Order: sequence, then C-alpha cells, then structure tokens
Amino acid sequence: MKDSIEVVTSEAAGQLAEIEAECFQHPLEKRQIARLLEDGNTCFLAARDGEVLTGSVWVQTVLDEGYIGNVAVRPAYRRRGIADALLEALDRLAGERGLSFLTLEVRSSNRPAVSLYEKHGYARVGLRPAYYSDPREDAVLMSKYWKQEKP
Ligand SMILES: CC(C)(COP(=O)(O)OP(=O)(O)OC[C@H]1O[C@@H](n2cnc3c(N)ncnc32)[C@H](O)[C@@H]1OP(=O)(O)O)[C@@H](O)C(=O)NCCC(=O)NCCS
Repeated sequence: MKDSIEVVTSEAAGQLAEIEAECFQHPLEKRQIARLLEDGNTCFLAARDGEVLTGSVWVQTVLDEGYIGNVAVRPAYRRRGIADALLEALDRLAGERGLSFLTLEVRSSNRPAVSLYEKHGYARVGLRPAYYSDPREDAVLMSKYWKQEKP
C-alpha cells in the first residue's frame, strides 16, 4: 500500500472531487480543488487502485508548518489501510520538507478519524467550541511535532 501513494496534479481534480463528494456533506468542488492544486502551497497525495484514485489527503505548508486538509477514502475502499498509508506518506513529506509540525481540525464525534490520527501520533492540543455547523459541533485540534535540528 505504501508504494501506491502518489503526489497528484491538476489532472486528478475530477477524481479528487468525486472522493470529496462520496465522503463529505460539504465537499470541495472540482474548481476549488483545481485552485488549491495550482496555488503552489498545497500538495495532494492520493492512493491508487488501477485507474481509480481511492483516497486522498491534502496539506498546505507555510514555512515549516503543515496544515492538513481533508483525509478521505471512498466508502467502498475503507478499512484496508489506505488512510494509514496516506498518513505514513504525510510523515515522509514532513521529513522531506523539514516541517516542525502537522496539524488539523476534526469533528469531535468523528471517531474513525480521531482514532486514525491518534494511531499516527497526533495529540489533542485544543478544542474550538461549536466550530462546525450542520450539525453544530466542536472541532478537536490535533498536532504532531517533529524536532528539527538547529543549524
Ligand atoms: C477516516 C477515514 C479516512 C479512514 O480511512 P480508512 O482507509 O478506512 O482507514 P484505515 O483502514 O487505514 O484505518 C486506519 C486507522 O483508522 C482508524 N479507523 C478507521 N476506520 C475506523 C472505524 N470505522 N472505527 C474506528 N476506527 C477507525 C483506526 O485507528 C484504524 O487503525 P486499525 O485498523 O489499526 O484499527 C475514512 O473513514 C473516511 O474517509 N471517512 C470520511 C471522511 C472523514 O471523516 N475524514 C476525516 C476528516 S478530518
């Protein structure tokens, strides 16, 4: 699985939008994804099964800081280790880019996602009360830190 994770470009925007639509109530649209893919600060990683992109994660980097967007795996492909592979690929990206941390927000009721992030070493570092709407819900902030060597 690890080897099937790839960095994708704007050609993948259509499939990335499909993944969003299958996984989220308020999905990013294709044109929003295309804009992110071209902004120079955002990297999309995707898992592939033949011609099908089965899951994705995106991260925005600012200097040595990494902000994770949505992690999503198509329902038909869940519980096969695809999200594990995507987060392992994010760890490698963090190492290559010398990031100090990766951070994200997740709905407090999203047990699969919270469990996934905890498994990969992300710690709960804060709470944004009533951050989400429809339904209204708190966001849990989770971060993973790397100690970078100082020159
Ligand atoms: C969360 C999500 C990305 C997990 O994808 P996945 O490929 O099925 O996950 P994996 O098979 O790689 O599982 C990795 C870990 O995630 C956690 N996990 C995944 N599904 C879970 C579930 N249904 N219940 C509890 N934990 C779960 C577990 O810790 C699991 O490790 P384990 O297999 O050792 O128990 C997927 O359920 C999804 O796309 N959900 C909808 C989108 C979403 O909510 N994204 C997060 C937004 S921040």
